[in-house]
Amino acid sequence: MNDVLDFLRQQQSISLEQLCSFLRIPSVSADSAYAPQMGICAEWVQNSMTEAGLKATIYPTKGHPIVYGERIENPALPTVLVYGHYDVQPPDPLNLWTTPAFEPQVRDGKLFARGATDDKGQLFTHLKSIEAWTKIHGSLPVNVKVLIEGEEEVGGVNLDHFLETHKQLLKADVAVVSDTSQYADGIPAITCGLRGIVAAEVRLKGPSKDLHSGIYGGSIANPVNALAKMCGKLVGDDGRIQIPGFYDDVLELTSIEQEQYAVLPFSESAFLKEVGSSATFGEAGRSTLVRRTARPTCDINGIAGGYQGEGPKTIIPSRAVAKITCRLVPKMNPTKVLDALEKFLKANCPPGIEFEFKRSHGCEAFVFDPTSDWLTAARKAVETAFGQPPVLIREGGSIPVVLSFKQILGIDTLLLGWGRNSDNLHSPDEHIHVTDFHRGTLASACLWSELAKVKKT
Ligand code: BES
Ligand code: MN
Ligand code: MN
Repeated sequence: MNDVLDFLRQQQSISLEQLCSFLRIPSVSADSAYAPQMGICAEWVQNSMTEAGLKATIYPTKGHPIVYGERIENPALPTVLVYGHYDVQPPDPLNLWTTPAFEPQVRDGKLFARGATDDKGQLFTHLKSIEAWTKIHGSLPVNVKVLIEGEEEVGGVNLDHFLETHKQLLKADVAVVSDTSQYADGIPAITCGLRGIVAAEVRLKGPSKDLHSGIYGGSIANPVNALAKMCGKLVGDDGRIQIPGFYDDVLELTSIEQEQYAVLPFSESAFLKEVGSSATFGEAGRSTLVRRTARPTCDINGIAGGYQGEGPKTIIPSRAVAKITCRLVPKMNPTKVLDALEKFLKANCPPGIEFEFKRSHGCEAFVFDPTSDWLTAARKAVETAFGQPPVLIREGGSIPVVLSFKQILGIDTLLLGWGRNSDNLHSPDEHIHVTDFHRGTLASACLWSELAKVKKT
């Protein structure tokens, strides 16, 4: 074990350089203009798996390719399914990056690039630790199956189809995903719950063309006014979501869970500094941490319509659109939430405006059994690498594949994040702390030997 860790320490600058070459590939899944780079990135992952000692294959899908590699040492050993995503969020807005998103640069101990933490930097720790084991010992203490997809950031449906059609290939005892965060700097976390999500787009059509607002103003409904009004009704001044029935199925925290939340260190001022805001806002009577991870939300992600250029323009615009997502907590049903959202918005749509509601991806929330042997083993591995035992937390983000692993493959997932929520995920200047990356490779290396000790059921 120690020789593996020593090897990883010796290799640190090479590993970081390799991560940079991974980050230079602009693998933006949302934008079809980047489709060729997605293929190039999949090949990069395949080569890196081969280098790590895995037998690696690229599986084309209807969308972006899936890369799969495995190394079966001995069927009697536990089999671990490692998951990650090589696709990244679009880099926009480009002008807010200190250095370009796909030209990785280290500054102040942080490596800046789109995907540095979400999820290239985190997933790469597992490939490096597997490589260290195979190069030093010629084998791993567990069997590993590594699945790296390219459609996580667009809520792709092709991965579920791949899971359904490759159940035997992917058969494993437990899954490992490093796509979450530490609780705070130096306080590692194992994430035992994630929120679910539903996404939709509202499109309003008013007059068949933009109209002069002097000639026609006051005589017909303006779709931008209408959209602003209906969106404005979604969340009350008390932070409660106003959609009838929205909270009906929400599972409240148990008293044990409430106590677990209460003992986690939390600084409101540090939090406000992290997000760059002057005040928190949310459901009355709930702490910021609970609001952020264990309560549902309704957020407008983008709104557009009418004239956006310089100077005034006196029109009644013809169209308006908004993109909306709700984060879900356990027991909330995605379809039911979308039905309620659609009904609420439609009921608030004035006459003369055509209403269209387009549903997008969705998944349920998830909570994980905190008492499993796999989790105990993971805690030990994380403690060894971080010098500090991990806290068990819930997170606010969503990783739909975790639910698919449970439902399709019948396995639980260990969510082990090495990065930080303050790493600017999905934002300009995304980064990973270089120390977090290296610590992640060590934790991953320890993980294989700890998981090897768990008795398969
Ligand atoms: N890695 C994130 C999710 C995440 C980040 C969870 C930090 C917990 C802490 C993932 O890549 C992501 O962005 N997920 C999307 C899912 C959606 C597109 C279906 C999300 O949560 O918005
Ligand atoms: Mn991610
Ligand atoms: Mn993401």
